[in-house]
Amino acid sequence: MPDEAEISSVCPTIGEAGIGRVVAGFYRRVPSDDVLGPMYPPQALAESESRLRDFLIFRFGGSDQYIQQRGHPRLRIRHAPFVLTQQARDRWVALMDQALSEAELPSAIETIMREFLQQTATFLINS
Ligand code: HEM
Repeated sequence: MPDEAEISSVCPTIGEAGIGRVVAGFYRRVPSDDVLGPMYPPQALAESESRLRDFLIFRFGGSDQYIQQRGHPRLRIRHAPFVLTQQARDRWVALMDQALSEAELPSAIETIMREFLQQTATFLINS
């Protein structure tokens, strides 16, 4: 796992727009994905995208707007309504890896994000 100083350097380095590019690339792939597509509400995808973007901006050292709007992240509890298998985790990570490659970020930052997101996804497996 990258250390806390590395994690919180991401948003100051690539900006909210850089994180927004990655999250947009991820959500662009969700609707047509056979595993993840059915898990996300199609009419509310834009709101889902904003929540993930704001959370990652906060977690990667930027604005705390996510906390002000949503409170403590409690990610395991918030994912409890969903069946998060190893397969769902692997697909989430695969789509995120594609979005990360496409965003053309500095390679050190890309590595920090990739490792943080992979390990958080593993931690969220609940069935
Ligand atoms: C392991 C695979 C994962 C799956 C299948 C998954 C699926 C979902 C789904 C279906 C939602 C509800 C859509 C919404 O209302 O926003 C959601 C919400 C969310 N997910 Fe995930 N997720 C995964 C991993 C992650 C990871 C790794 C993170 C963070 C690094 C994350 C962060 C969030 C956040 C911040 C929300 C919105 C929480 C809220 O404020 O209500 N998810 N996720």
